Amino acid sequence: MKVILLGTAAGGGFPQWNCACEQCRSSAPPRTQDCVAFSADGTTWHLLNASPDIRTQILATPALRAGPGPRETPLRSVLLTDAELDHALGLLMLREATGLTVHAPAAALHALTEHFPARMVIEGYHSWDWISAAETTVDGLNVTPFPISDKQPKYARASTMPGPWVIAYRIHDPATGGSFVYAPCLRTWPPGFTAFTRGATLVLLDGTFYDGAEFATATATATATATATGTADPAVQQGMGHLPITATLPTITGHGGTRWAYTHLNNTNPVVNPHSVEHAAVLQAGAELPPDGTEFTL
Ligand code: MLT
Ligand code: MN
Ligand code: ZN
Repeated sequence: MKVILLGTAAGGGFPQWNCACEQCRSSAPPRTQDCVAFSADGTTWHLLNASPDIRTQILATPALRAGPGPRETPLRSVLLTDAELDHALGLLMLREATGLTVHAPAAALHALTEHFPARMVIEGYHSWDWISAAETTVDGLNVTPFPISDKQPKYARASTMPGPWVIAYRIHDPATGGSFVYAPCLRTWPPGFTAFTRGATLVLLDGTFYDGAEFATATATATATATATGTADPAVQQGMGHLPITATLPTITGHGGTRWAYTHLNNTNPVVNPHSVEHAAVLQAGAELPPDGTEFTL
């Protein structure tokens, strides 16, 4: 199985268009928004999430470009972990695709119908298949979803739809024995998640924030809450729906044989600077911070 990291930044990308912080004005390598492509044999491909940067990401990736027929593309499906805009806006960019299958948690399909009606919009162009994520097989690869949290997109306005709103996926290639877990949105380390990742060749984890102090400066509301409660309060860190790297790094070290990598890096995260002490600390702990375009053969 082949896996390509098309984008590795959180919503807004890096640098973020509306941020003039020192890091966004630095020469640290840019990162596009979180999105992954995988393929059993390199001929047909599947996306994990559909980032708003998907057009640029496809054009930058020879394996994903149109062909071999004049109106053919190798894309067959999109597996959404959630309905956050940085993971779902790309569906609209893909509207020219004559047939795609979209897998998503039922709550995310609800959001894409009632709150951000991408599904209705796309149905005006082409008829796609929209299915509630469940254990399945794509091109001979086994796909297993895992419930992560009930973190909803802000635009869902506290919907009463039951969760899970966020899931992770494990993709296993029976031909090679390789497998990877994709979990870019971890509000907590949920019960059973250690077992879900066990024995995987590669795990891509939520790396939005480095630590609680960074979280406190990431948003104005967060600053107010963090000031009131202390910036290292895990409940505050979880309020954004993203466990910081400092909370997951101790958990993952010692899981022998598995490669751990962080993705969905926020523009505020010091690890985006390859010369930062935080970047060095992640590598030192045995985890990876792969740039956009990184390919894995599993
Ligand atoms: C998130 O990851 O928490 C969301 O994508 C936030 C956003 O809407 O950008
Ligand atoms: Mn996001
Ligand atoms: Zn910035």
